[in-house]
Amino acid sequence: MQIKFSAEPTGDAIAYLCYEGDKGVEFAADLDKPGESAIRRAIAAGSFKGGAGQVVEILAPEWSDASRVLALGVGKKSAASDLGWQKAAAALVKRVLLGGAKSLAIVGAPDRGVAAHLALGARLAGYRFDQYRLNLKAEKKPTLTTVSIVTDSAAGARADYAPLAAKAEGVEFARDLVSEPPNVLHPESYADRIQELTELGLEIEVLDVAAMTKLGMGSLLGVGQGSVRGSRLVVMKWMGAKDKKSAPVAFVGKGVTFDTGGISLKPGPGMQDMKGDMGGSAAVAGAMISIAKRKAKANVVGLVGLVENMPDGNAQRPGDIVRAAAGKTIEIQNTDAEGRLVLCDVLWYAQKKFHPKAMIDLATLTGAIIISLGNEHAGLFSNNDDLAAKLTAAGKVEGEPVWRLPLGAGYDKQIDSDVADMRNIGNAGNAGSITAAQFLQRFVDEGRAWAHLDIAGTAWKPGNDNPLEPTWATGWGVRILDRLIADNYED
Ligand code: BES
Ligand code: MN
Ligand code: ZN
Repeated sequence: MQIKFSAEPTGDAIAYLCYEGDKGVEFAADLDKPGESAIRRAIAAGSFKGGAGQVVEILAPEWSDASRVLALGVGKKSAASDLGWQKAAAALVKRVLLGGAKSLAIVGAPDRGVAAHLALGARLAGYRFDQYRLNLKAEKKPTLTTVSIVTDSAAGARADYAPLAAKAEGVEFARDLVSEPPNVLHPESYADRIQELTELGLEIEVLDVAAMTKLGMGSLLGVGQGSVRGSRLVVMKWMGAKDKKSAPVAFVGKGVTFDTGGISLKPGPGMQDMKGDMGGSAAVAGAMISIAKRKAKANVVGLVGLVENMPDGNAQRPGDIVRAAAGKTIEIQNTDAEGRLVLCDVLWYAQKKFHPKAMIDLATLTGAIIISLGNEHAGLFSNNDDLAAKLTAAGKVEGEPVWRLPLGAGYDKQIDSDVADMRNIGNAGNAGSITAAQFLQRFVDEGRAWAHLDIAGTAWKPGNDNPLEPTWATGWGVRILDRLIADNYED
């Protein structure tokens, strides 16, 4: 989707922002020629009240170059928010996307900042993952290619939009990766894709199996040993702070490019969704893109553990004991609880290498978090109230809300093992998201500010009705991470 800012309202379709209560009359009065009332009547005929995201589409008047005009409800003026503007523009674009119009103009942005947020919403709603649909019927193909936001301060809006466009690029990258099929996106090809981001000024380092073996990452490597694809650990560095030596914030992502469950094989139905089990890593890579593109004045490192969890003659077994790089042994009781096994070695590496002042991991870690929170909130676990508060605030502003769950010694006991330092599952059916978080916490250094986001319910959403997101891969996590940095860690 091409986004433009211009003073002229030109396009196949022209949409007018209407606040709740106006009933669209303000703009209608302008469009109806003296003595005419067709537009006013067309709007009044429906139930349009200017509610947020409400859209009425009507035929453009005879004298207009446009083919149609739309009234776009933006809700009450007093309740306006950046996210609200984004969602309104998104609802509009979703409505117009396939309808025949090639260009759309949005009229009525009160200032350049609003214009920029309308643009972000339009862009995110225009996202599609169509590259494998080679024979898409014409009526299922988007027609809309350009959205222009009408504003008197086009140059100012363009400047305000630049960091938002950076964010959108990160979100789009994450969505693409989550949607990519697992025969295309596997640990090796994934590492190659991230390597290309050096173009943005990110410093990229890739650890292969040999390098990780040297470091003693028996836990991560155990998960990948049943796959013909070599596991990878990829580090992305952005040192944008004035003091390049100051401790960075670290993002850590679970990148299981396909999770069959391993020898503890998952049931067949729905298993295809496990191509998205790398959603945490995609969010981390996407956030790094956003941070680099807008040249954030902060030191941030992103680390992703990329593995494929396959059953095979060489796959790890329930009962195996592995040694993590941190020098702790783990009894594998279920090979499907693999995300934590990947993350523990990446968390260790992040701390050893970077001594981060805060460390946030994202993972599609447990089905249990979907039972608890559905697809509305991601689960937040943290050893630090300040970091938890920062993430909660960032998520709210960005429309990626999180809900904090507890940690505690009582839960931690569940992952004690009779034969090793710990086991990789708790008591079946009992607080599964929390015991997974307890496992991770065992690898967090004393005193290190750490948060874990369980995004199993938000990385993809079947039948999603959020206008800013597509139906499946959401790109969840890019926005909250980008905002966390922007609001708290920049010079
Ligand atoms: N990747 C899954 C978690 C998941 C489930 C993500 C559904 C998205 C949707 C994870 O690796 C997993 O299999 N977890 C197990 C843990 C259990 C064996 C302790 C689970 O949640 O069932
Ligand atoms: Mn699993
Ligand atoms: Zn998994």
